[in-house]
Amino acid sequence: MAQTDRSRRSFLAALISLLAGGWLVGRFLTPKLRPKNTLLTVAKAELPPDGALVYREARVALMRRGDSVYALDLVCTHLGCTVNVTPTGLVCPCHGSRFDREGKVLEGPADRPLKRYAVEADGDRYRVLV
Ligand code: FES
Repeated sequence: MAQTDRSRRSFLAALISLLAGGWLVGRFLTPKLRPKNTLLTVAKAELPPDGALVYREARVALMRRGDSVYALDLVCTHLGCTVNVTPTGLVCPCHGSRFDREGKVLEGPADRPLKRYAVEADGDRYRVLV
């Protein structure tokens, strides 16, 4: 009988340890999914075809090219100046980096493309998500 009690206790202790270990692994090793926040909401009709809307305070440009709508972060990837949007691309006034309308580097010193934000169509509006 004593042998059975010890065996049962060992089994329960092992089971509790396994569950606690599984919980700890799940708690600390799985990434947390954060809901995205809306940075901007823009009426679809405001965004011209093959054009851009620039929000300098938010340092974001909402761009349309054909059917594709995307948002670029206007923070230069070199040292963080605000990039200007021109009809042909994006130009940083601080050290002259140039980017194409997709945000890819055309000319340094910046060596990384501009960050993109997710854009979600929501009825008659676009929502730029961060
Ligand atoms: S901060 Fe833009 S090129 Fe230097």
